[in-house]
Amino acid sequence: MTPAPATPKALRDLNWSDFSALSPREKSGYLLTREGNLQCLIYSQQFDRPLLDHLCGLAEYAREAGESDLAYLKTLLATRSGALYFTQPSTRTFTSFSLAARALGMMCEEIRDPEMSSVYKGESEIDTLLTLAELADAVIMRQGDHSLINRFAFEVMHRGYDTRILNGGSGSEQHPTQALLELYTLVSHFDLVNTKGGSFSVGIVGDLKRSRTARSLSYLLALYPRIRQIFVAPEELQMGDDLTEYLDETGIAYERTDAMDDTLPMLDAVYMMRMQDEYGTTSEETRRKYDDFRLTTERVARLKPDACILHPLPRRAELPIEVDADPRARYWEAVNRGKFVRIALLLHMFGKDDLEKIRARAY
Ligand code: NCD
Repeated sequence: MTPAPATPKALRDLNWSDFSALSPREKSGYLLTREGNLQCLIYSQQFDRPLLDHLCGLAEYAREAGESDLAYLKTLLATRSGALYFTQPSTRTFTSFSLAARALGMMCEEIRDPEMSSVYKGESEIDTLLTLAELADAVIMRQGDHSLINRFAFEVMHRGYDTRILNGGSGSEQHPTQALLELYTLVSHFDLVNTKGGSFSVGIVGDLKRSRTARSLSYLLALYPRIRQIFVAPEELQMGDDLTEYLDETGIAYERTDAMDDTLPMLDAVYMMRMQDEYGTTSEETRRKYDDFRLTTERVARLKPDACILHPLPRRAELPIEVDADPRARYWEAVNRGKFVRIALLLHMFGKDDLEKIRARAY
C-alpha cells in the first residue's frame, strides 16, 4: 500500500494564529491537494528539486509542442476556470498567466482595479477573494500585502475548498513563479547539479532589500548546494537578514558586497533588479549610489563569455537596451519561458502533469 502524502495534521484542526506562526516550510505540508500536488503556491520554499525538474521538463514539452500537441493541451483544463486578481501593476506575469490558463482551455476572468469590485462598497479583500474561490477553480493573484495571500490560503484549506491559489507577487516578500521561470532559464543553459564543474556563482544585483523576485530566486537557488549566491548592493539596500539566516541554516555559501566591478568577472549568472521605490521612500543619496550598480555595456564586456544575464523586468537605467544585443542577455527568452513554466505549474496543480499520459493523449 502506498502511504498517504505527508500532511502533518488536517488544516481543519488548526486556527489562523497557529497557522500564521508556522514557517513557510512547515506550512508547505498543509498546502497540498489530496494527491500531494501543490494546491496553494505562496512561497518558493514550497518547491523541491524533483518538482522543479518535473516542471521544467513539462514546460519544455509545452514550449516545443506542435499544432496537435497544443490542441491536446487545450483540452486538459477545458472544464476549469481561473480568476486573476491583480491589484498591483503587471504586464508579464498577468499576460503570461492568462495565456497559459487559456492555452490549457481554462475560462478566465479578471479583477485588476479594486475600485471596480465590491471593495469599493466596503467589502474586505479577503471576502472578495473568498468570492472568487467560490466561483473559480483557480485564483491567481498579485497584491501589495503578503499576509493576505497567507490568510486566503489558510481560509481555503481550512474550509476544505479545492480552489488552487497561485502567487503572482505578494508585497516585497515573494514571487515564486518569477523565480521558477528564472530557474527554468538557468537549467536550460547550465548544469546546476553536477559538482564536477566546481561552484557556480549567481550575482543578484540592486535593490535586494525590497525585491520579491530576488528573495524568491535566492530561496530557490538554495536547493542547489553547488550555487554560490553573491548579493551586490549598496549597504542600505542589501538582502535582508531573514534570508541570509535561512541560507546559513541551509549551509549555502553567500556573500554580501558593494563591489560590483570586482564581482562581475567571477559570475556565471547575473540577476539585475530595478529600484523598488513603491515600497517606501528612497533618499537622494541612495538613488545616486544606485547609478553605480548599472550593468553598462562596458561592464557586460567583463562578464565570462558564457555568462547569463537575467532581469525580471520592468527595467530602468540599471540595464540599458543596448545589452539586449549581447548573446548572454537571456531576459527576453526568460519572458517567453515564463508562459510555458506557468502552463506546467497549472497542469501540476490540477493533477494533469503526467508527461507520458500527455504524450499518449491518455487523459
Ligand atoms: C517583478 C515584480 O513584479 O516583482 N516583475 C515581474 O513580475 N516580472 C519585478 C519588478 O517589478 O521589479
